[in-house]
Amino acid sequence: MPELKVEAGETLMVSGPASTMLLEGEAHILGAPLRPGERVTIRRWRLLPVYAVENCRVKVELGSEGSLDKHDGSTIPEDWWRAASRIAESSRLKPLTVAVLGGVDVGKTAFTVFLANQALKEGVKVSVVDGDVGQSDLGPPCTLGAAQLRKPVFDLFFVNPERLEFAGSTTPSKVRKRLLEALKRLCSEERKRSRLVVLNSDGWISGDGAEAYKVSLVKAVEAEVAVGLQTLGELESVLERLEAEGFQAVRLPASPKVRARSRGERRELRWQAYAKYFSGSSIRSLNLHQVKVSGFPEPKRGAILALYAPRGRRLLGIGVALTYNRKRETLKVLTPVKGFVGEVEIGEVLPDFTLAGSRLHPQQ
Ligand SMILES: Nc1ncnc2c1ncn2[C@@H]1O[C@H](COP(=O)(O)OP(=O)(O)OP(=O)(O)O)[C@@H](O)[C@H]1O
Ligand SMILES: [Mg+2]
Repeated sequence: MPELKVEAGETLMVSGPASTMLLEGEAHILGAPLRPGERVTIRRWRLLPVYAVENCRVKVELGSEGSLDKHDGSTIPEDWWRAASRIAESSRLKPLTVAVLGGVDVGKTAFTVFLANQALKEGVKVSVVDGDVGQSDLGPPCTLGAAQLRKPVFDLFFVNPERLEFAGSTTPSKVRKRLLEALKRLCSEERKRSRLVVLNSDGWISGDGAEAYKVSLVKAVEAEVAVGLQTLGELESVLERLEAEGFQAVRLPASPKVRARSRGERRELRWQAYAKYFSGSSIRSLNLHQVKVSGFPEPKRGAILALYAPRGRRLLGIGVALTYNRKRETLKVLTPVKGFVGEVEIGEVLPDFTLAGSRLHPQQ
């Protein structure tokens, strides 16, 4: 691993695939302090900013297509710092749910992480609810996840969701009602144990129904504050509608240093999340005489499935439909779920996949 010096007040922006390690000095990533000797992984198509609080020595290992860039100063806007410390302070006085809104690639996930880290530093109990079904950080695509954070984080992708709900699609416009119901449940559950609940959202803000959905989302989860990240006032009409209904809106600039992703890269990021979730999976055969089936009438190959426990309809996890034998009423499923399955719900079809043994791969 080559060594580098980062001067106090500078940011080393590391684009993945890469890993980095602090050798000496003080630095943080999105407000989370780096511990000397701790290895931090930066995923492909992601960028993490290592901000040097004092002069640092770091080791960096770059994978193919990984890269480094230095920035003079912090890449976290002043307004983000101010808003995060105000929210953290308020949540010490009374519990708060904060909805983070914005279009694609404005830094919604980065702000969610930054806010959670700042609140943790203040000793506030924090939960994150991931409302982005397409670019999920907590849990695989097609699901909504929630977790209480035990320590500051660099990347929510490496946090295991403690609660998971099935949405059935990666396209929010197709499953609006479902998302509202699930996110309401997740936020209210998290609110029981955390002073601050940060709800991250998807980047669907324009087009048919997008604004109405965002307003309904803030209402459904009973957020006290809606944080809107925007570049050119693209979120104004949503924020004004929310303010007219009595919600507090906090306007913040979009992140100045995002690593924007193409459609193809977004697809690859979804695959990263599926691959992580399905690693260690096996192929199970479910007898549909004994397992209830809901959702679409017949499981097609590649359908994403929700697998529920027999009692209480508790979501055990998800699976992918492989083959359905109508005569025998059996369904072969790839899944990491080990427990007894009482119900299968059929979601949208995952296009372009291949199977190598019991590993799922995107088709080239
Ligand atoms: N202030 C920042 N400084 C450095 N890097 C940042 C900053 N904000 C975001 N990034 C990086 O840019 C990339 C995109 O940002 P992020 O994922 O937060 O955007 P997003 O609005 O959540 O995107 P999406 O629409 O895909 O959900 C990420 O890799 C993130 O780490
Ligand atoms: Mg995001």
